[in-house]
Amino acid sequence: MNTIQIEDKAFEILLENDNICKRTRLIGIQLNVDYENRCPIFIGVLNGSFLFMADLLKEITVSCEVGFIKVSSYEGAESSGKIKQAFGLPTDLFERDIIIVEDIVDTGFTLDYIIAEIKKQEPASVKVCSLLLKPKALKAPIEELEYVGFEIANEFVVGYGLDYNGLGRNLKDIYRAKTVS
Ligand code: IMP
Ligand code: MG
Repeated sequence: MNTIQIEDKAFEILLENDNICKRTRLIGIQLNVDYENRCPIFIGVLNGSFLFMADLLKEITVSCEVGFIKVSSYEGAESSGKIKQAFGLPTDLFERDIIIVEDIVDTGFTLDYIIAEIKKQEPASVKVCSLLLKPKALKAPIEELEYVGFEIANEFVVGYGLDYNGLGRNLKDIYRAKTVS
C-alpha cells in the first residue's frame, strides 16, 4: 500500500521498513564501537520512539541500561514549541553516559528541554540518536545530536512510532503527508 488516508490527510510512502532497519543496524554498529566498555543509559522519548528504540536496542551488544521518558509538547501537525513537563526521568544519571533516543527532531525545542533536564544531574556525557531530522525546521543547532538515521524535508510524517492525532504509530513504514496540488 503506497498511499494511505488518516482522518483528513492523505499520506504517501517515504521510508520502507527494510530501509529503516538497515539504517538502524548501521547506527547500532557505530554505537557499539563508540560506547565500548562504557555501559551507557539509553533513554527513549515516548511515545514516538518506541519502535525505533526496540529495533535499535536489538542491535546493541555493549552492556547498557534502558529507560523511557515522556514529554508532552506537540499537538496536531505543527510544533507548538511549548514544553509542558518531562515524566519518568531516571534520577541516577550522575557521571553516566546518556544516549537520548528520539523518533524525530523538528524544531529541536523538545530535545533542548530534555538535554537541559538531564544535564542538571551532571552525567559524564549526553548524545542524541534520532531516527529522523528535519534540518530546515531546526531552530538552533544541537551539538549533542550525534546519530541521525535520515534527514528529511520539512514535511509532516507518520508511521513507525510517529502519529497524526494519535493515529498511525503502528504502521511499519514511514509516510509523508501529500501536498494538495
Ligand atoms: P520538536 O520539539 O519541534 O523538535 O518536536 C519534536 C516532537 O514532535 C517529536 O518527538 C515528535 O513526537 C513530534 N513531531 C515532530 N515532527 C513530527 C512529524 O512530522 N510527525 C509526527 N510527529 C512529529
Ligand atoms: Mg517524540
